[in-house]
Amino acid sequence: MSRRNTARVADILSSRSGEEMSLNERFLNPQMGRILRTLGFDKVWKGGEGAHLIDSDGERYLDLFGGYGVFAIGRNHPEAIAAIEEVMQARTGNLPQLGVTLLSGVLAEQLLERSPASVGAMVPANTGTEAVEAAIKIARAATGRPRVLYAEHAFHGLTLGSLSINGNDEFRAGFGPFLPGCDPVAFGDLGGLERQLAAGDVAALVLEPIQGKGVNLPPDGYLQCAQKLCRDAGTLFVCDEVQTGIGRTGRFLALEHWSLEPDMICLSKALSGGLVPIGAVLVSRAAFDGVFDGMERAVRHGSTFGGNDLAAAAALATLRVLDGEQLVARAKSSGELLLELTAPLTERFEIVREVRGLGLMWAIEFGPPAGGAGRRLWETVERRQPGLFSQLITVPLFHDHRIFCQVAGHHMNVIKALPALTIEEDEIRRFAAALEETIAAAERYPAALARFGFRTGLRMAGLRR
Ligand SMILES: Cc1ncc(COP(=O)(O)O)c(C=O)c1O
Repeated sequence: MSRRNTARVADILSSRSGEEMSLNERFLNPQMGRILRTLGFDKVWKGGEGAHLIDSDGERYLDLFGGYGVFAIGRNHPEAIAAIEEVMQARTGNLPQLGVTLLSGVLAEQLLERSPASVGAMVPANTGTEAVEAAIKIARAATGRPRVLYAEHAFHGLTLGSLSINGNDEFRAGFGPFLPGCDPVAFGDLGGLERQLAAGDVAALVLEPIQGKGVNLPPDGYLQCAQKLCRDAGTLFVCDEVQTGIGRTGRFLALEHWSLEPDMICLSKALSGGLVPIGAVLVSRAAFDGVFDGMERAVRHGSTFGGNDLAAAAALATLRVLDGEQLVARAKSSGELLLELTAPLTERFEIVREVRGLGLMWAIEFGPPAGGAGRRLWETVERRQPGLFSQLITVPLFHDHRIFCQVAGHHMNVIKALPALTIEEDEIRRFAAALEETIAAAERYPAALARFGFRTGLRMAGLRR
């Protein structure tokens, strides 16, 4: 049935609640609907507050997904909402286009104040991938070189430029050909990087300080040496802090852990409190001036909504909340507690390979038991679909403990958490206890879990067709 929309938002939210899955089925992404039903994650989410999502029965779920990491200051933070309302109230002269605005300028000032001196200008964007696209273009134009290097397993977004530097085949397959001149290096391999840089034709190396797919931490000294190799080769060193930035790792920018001074820093996700799409690239003055180098080149790169007042206001509020609630320090101490509580799981359970993280970017990796029935069951489940074992943990966490988390990428048995930096200590303890109980059950009752795995695996296998 087609209907003209005459209802106000509040009316839609109340009168049509419950239609989410059927609308998704008809008009959006039915395959996503199948995944949600298979896992039993097909909830009607009525609300969000702080570190929690709230379902239609009013049950609160600890949200470790964090909207892919956008809710650093917590869901629906009142100060971020107030900032957006203030912009609306002020009826600002938003997006003059042939003109400049105050809020975007103040945001640039604030971000650059908190960043290394190597960057001196901001290019606004609307998403993470758009920030990365801008970095690729700026690097090519500023250096006059064609090539861009990226790390294996890297994730920088899914538009075609960012996809060209994506190190995961499952995202790339079917979308080629990609941008020419984009080549992978192994994350941590300085020798390989040096060989790639030797030709002198590389515009940029783009790296996540900690890789989001799998939560891979860099080997000691890697990022500093990679930066030095780039500098020596005249290649721009770009840190993609879309996921790691804005306090996530216990520093405002993750690059501070290694005292890096990149030529560009990509930001997005948590920057606007999760309420308004936003992106930004912080750029060295030299690279910026190499691109925007004359009046006729002032609009060489940009985007209609880049630097809009709503995003800038939400971002300024986010920075204020980050300071006021001391969330960067809190991410550090909460992350230390989470690691302290969960690291012993590697000793306690054979299937726990590693627990790792920095600040509140955390992951647990599972691996097969050495032998016996457990090994056979693991192999059976994994034959259905690599990475399926992790769902034997995430599903009970969701249904039995009301904890919402997921795997860190395709074909890997890594579960990841990106909670709000505001998460309370008792919720961290509750998660650690629930995780331990769930893993213990997975070891104790492997047959029951395997039956679940069979069912889920069959359905998931069906999804891929
Ligand atoms: C490191 C990194 N870069 C870029 C992106 C792309 O951001 P977006 O989804 O806003 O395009 C992501 C998204 O997960 C990311 O983690």
